[in-house]
Amino acid sequence: MKRVIVLGSNGQLGKTIKDCADTETNEFYFFSRTDLDINDSDKIESIFANSGFDYCINCAAYTNVEGAETNIQDAFLINAEGALNIAEACANNQVKLIHVSTDYVFNGKKQSPYTEIDSTDPINQYGKSKYQGEQNIQEKLNTYYIIRTSWLYSLHGKNFLKTIINKINDDAVLNITTEEVGTPTSCIDLAKFILHIIDDNTIAYGIYNFSARGYTTWYGFAKEIVRHYNSKKVKNVNASAKFKTIAKRPSYSVFDLNKTEQAYQELNSWEESVEALIEEYKKSNK
Ligand SMILES: NC(=O)c1ccc[n+]([C@@H]2O[C@H](COP(=O)([O-])OP(=O)(O)OC[C@H]3O[C@@H](n4cnc5c(N)ncnc54)[C@H](OP(=O)(O)O)[C@@H]3O)[C@@H](O)[C@H]2O)c1
Repeated sequence: MKRVIVLGSNGQLGKTIKDCADTETNEFYFFSRTDLDINDSDKIESIFANSGFDYCINCAAYTNVEGAETNIQDAFLINAEGALNIAEACANNQVKLIHVSTDYVFNGKKQSPYTEIDSTDPINQYGKSKYQGEQNIQEKLNTYYIIRTSWLYSLHGKNFLKTIINKINDDAVLNITTEEVGTPTSCIDLAKFILHIIDDNTIAYGIYNFSARGYTTWYGFAKEIVRHYNSKKVKNVNASAKFKTIAKRPSYSVFDLNKTEQAYQELNSWEESVEALIEEYKKSNK
């Protein structure tokens, strides 16, 4: 039985890990931001020093991509310094770190799937702060898994899938951008991969890409959500070339999943995972 601390447990990924965690196999300790702020290095150290954790899963992050363009300091404080604090506590206390990062470490100019060793070049402040977090971890710690993921959605919190469903329920007509190509990823799939790393306990440390298989645009994603949720409303979803944002976004951020597939053979297509989550959504909203 391993002892696992989960930070940022009130976010969508943190909550999904709580839903999926098998508490008979391992002992989980969930810390929300109010329980433990990742910028409070003394508190982190004192909690880690007395608890004998085997793994730390870091789901805590500044995730507002638009907000990061003006709140640059906050983004770096949480995504870069916060990650450093956690890495130091992990190094001091022999804890393995599973840290979640993003496809936004890439500039999107590549025309074929990004591997873990492709050059990074973040083009917005969120991506820059997350990349600095990755660097800080790699400098302090050898026993890390940095999992880059993309376009997360879940039953929890605010995310694209829930926004589309709410708008469709209001009978809105949706104009969704075709500008970005990437892969929607269910937090359930990511949570299962993270828990697999812990259960397996032999997977090599390092950086891993994680998404579903395949790729689409936000427009394609929206249409698939609506098709499963209420197929009569698919006609409400229109393709639009531009979506005005403050932050630049990579136009292409599809992952090469070969390395991850060596360690984990349970990847779904993005369409399968959207369908599964809509089924869950319908059950939980009956
Ligand atoms: N969402 C995506 O599409 C996406 C895509 C690629 C990668 N990622 C990465 O995936 C990970 C999980 O994202 P998510 O979608 O689950 O994010 P989320 O729902 O925004 O959750 C992030 C959590 O971190 C907490 N937090 C913020 N600052 C903190 C601090 N100083 N100390 C402790 N906790 C703090 C937040 O608490 P409050 O709510 O109280 O502020 C929130 O509960 C993040 O590393 C993110 O960068 C996300």
